[in-house]
Amino acid sequence: MKILSGIQPSGKLHIGNYFGMMKTMISHMENADLYVFIVDLHALTSVHDRDLLARGTIEAAADFLALGLDPDKCTFWVQSDVPEVCELTWVLSTLAPMGLLERCHSYKDKIAKGISPSHGLFSYPVLMAADILLYQADCVPVGQDQKQHLEVARDIAQKFNNEFGETFVVPEPAIDEHTATVPGLDGQKMSKSYDNTIPIFLEGKPLKKQIMAIQTDATPVEEPKDPDTCNLFQIFRLFATPERLAEVHELYVNGGAAYGYIKLELLELITDYFAEARTRKAQYLADPGEVRKIMARGAEKARAKASVTIDLVRDRVGLNY
Ligand code: ADP
Ligand code: TRP
Repeated sequence: MKILSGIQPSGKLHIGNYFGMMKTMISHMENADLYVFIVDLHALTSVHDRDLLARGTIEAAADFLALGLDPDKCTFWVQSDVPEVCELTWVLSTLAPMGLLERCHSYKDKIAKGISPSHGLFSYPVLMAADILLYQADCVPVGQDQKQHLEVARDIAQKFNNEFGETFVVPEPAIDEHTATVPGLDGQKMSKSYDNTIPIFLEGKPLKKQIMAIQTDATPVEEPKDPDTCNLFQIFRLFATPERLAEVHELYVNGGAAYGYIKLELLELITDYFAEARTRKAQYLADPGEVRKIMARGAEKARAKASVTIDLVRDRVGLNY
């Protein structure tokens, strides 16, 4: 089974990224043909700062490595190192229905937030389809926000297969219902673009500041509260042991849950949860040349696979004359 997913290096990776996608990907290292990549071409739709993008790419790669992704047990690379993806994007764009792309929430949300749309932002889902189809992925673990983009990829794959003959695997999304949408500090989806995140490797005072900023309501301590709608509880449950979670759940339902104390406990839980990975990340960042080497080896592996598909596509559509 081929499992594939990518992440944008458009800001510091956060616990929503970790529980929504990274943790799942890392857990498949032993049992699947795994493809993990840093989508720097996608990040160009929002980052127009050379240093920021380059640093973000190294950091995102270091994050995955520090969290335990073993590059020898998967194919791990930077998207732009495999230029075949751009060729496939063009071919797929000639099949992608305008209406389908116009209906994409992620595009519409960004316009609604006042971002002036570029052609790249509009065709973002076509590049994502190319990412997936180029490697013939069976399964794509993502958070809920990417479900529609997966539907676009499936639609384009089916259209291509119908017009040119069976070529692409039609990919299935894999969305874990418990971590489909991790809330941010303000209760909206945690996202690099909403400035409401808890970055994975934050520690000390800056981490405390973020945790203290998690928005809660004004219900007094002794009164019952609804854990399902409480932002703090929804983050706390990702880190607490089942026993502790049951205790705190009790306090919410029967009264006695003090947000301030739960926040301090969360601070400790997050600090401990990522402690080892934090040390490893510092080691990778101290040696970015090593990270670049790892990514270059990964790109070679990815490119070998990509060239098989692109050759087949060229043949199917008539570009191999
Ligand atoms: P962001 O929205 O922070 O820019 P990306 O778009 O790069 O994150 O998402 C990378 C992966 O992490 C995707 O699979 C996405 O669905 C997942 N993801 C992002 N935010 C969350 C969240 N708050 N909860 C669950 N999964 C998330
Ligand atoms: N669009 C995805 C996101 O923002 C990132 C992405 C790009 C991706 N290409 C992909 C995810 C291919 C899965 C498969 O989260």
